Amino acid sequence: MSKPRALVTGGAGFLGSHLCDALLAEGYPVVVVDNLVTGRQSNLDHLRHEARFEFRKIDINEPFDCGEVDYGFHFASPASPVDYTVDGIATLKVGSLGTFHALDVALKYGAKYLVASTSECYGDPLEHPQKETYWGNVNPIGPRSVYDEAKRFTEAATMAYYLYHKVDTRIARIFNTYGPRMQFNDGRVIPNFMKQALRGEDLTVYGDGRQTRSFCYVSDQIDGLLRLAKSSEHLPVNIGNPTEFSILECAKRVLAVTGSKSQIRYEPLPQDDPKQRRPDIAKANTLLGWEPKIDLETGLRLSLDYFRKAALERKTTRA
Ligand SMILES: NC(=O)c1ccc[n+]([C@@H]2O[C@H](COP(=O)([O-])OP(=O)(O)OC[C@H]3O[C@@H](n4cnc5c(N)ncnc54)[C@H](O)[C@@H]3O)[C@@H](O)[C@H]2O)c1
Repeated sequence: MSKPRALVTGGAGFLGSHLCDALLAEGYPVVVVDNLVTGRQSNLDHLRHEARFEFRKIDINEPFDCGEVDYGFHFASPASPVDYTVDGIATLKVGSLGTFHALDVALKYGAKYLVASTSECYGDPLEHPQKETYWGNVNPIGPRSVYDEAKRFTEAATMAYYLYHKVDTRIARIFNTYGPRMQFNDGRVIPNFMKQALRGEDLTVYGDGRQTRSFCYVSDQIDGLLRLAKSSEHLPVNIGNPTEFSILECAKRVLAVTGSKSQIRYEPLPQDDPKQRRPDIAKANTLLGWEPKIDLETGLRLSLDYFRKAALERKTTRA
């Protein structure tokens, strides 16, 4: 008997495309709906001849129906500050309207549903590390609000469908994740440093570089997400790597892994930039038996070929 069919909204993006690979490897036929606003068809090129895979170019801010599915993974949303501020209203819409439309598909087919939420729900946190029980410190009208509040709404809508419509939902609070297929120019810390280091440009550190982040390698993230999908937990679960690095330390690791001679250049800290980010993963550990396995240096090495190729391609197409 064939496995149930899975829907991945945003499946042409960084995380969504890796999720498709993992679902197909587990035997699930997969349908992706994506409008390619930040995702790329090339992330799915390797699945072109896969009979169990289907791509539909759809903007989920409009109601959609991709046929019967047994599991809905809702990943569609611009995710980097560069992307979500280009069109903040589209970001708010995909977190609200898009989320309703994805939930309606799950409701119609009685499908299970997992949404990619974010550590941005914690804003600039006053509690450290962040547990799922922390309600966050978010500026509702600041430059990041179009993303942060959209995701907080996404969580509220997901809980409402669970409570009022009995949709079998899961909420993953994803912390900074990196790896191959990330957009090269999306301004997130690791692609930015990798790009600058591989091109011999200065690495831009905002503020004094003492603000911290924790970075999860993509294979660890996908493993955590699949475990959550198979669990019966309806409340949010943090999935991320709890090892914390200052931005400056991260820049130094990138220089070491790439062997680059680039210098570090300091620039003013953007408004509302969180000073600390680290997931408390006790819940994921106890509930899902999950913890990340790949440390930052190993993850950077695993990503190096991809970023090197992207640096070369962009250089030749830029001139
Ligand atoms: N990568 C991370 O570190 C991270 C951290 C926290 C949360 N997340 C969440 O995970 C999800 C995926 O993030 P990512 O890093 O892969 O980003 P991404 O930009 O690579 O992928 C997002 C995908 O959603 C698609 N999309 C956006 N709006 C759409 C719409 N209206 N209709 C159809 N498709 C649409 C884009 O084209 C893209 O393919 C997002 O929801 C993001 O908020 C990611």
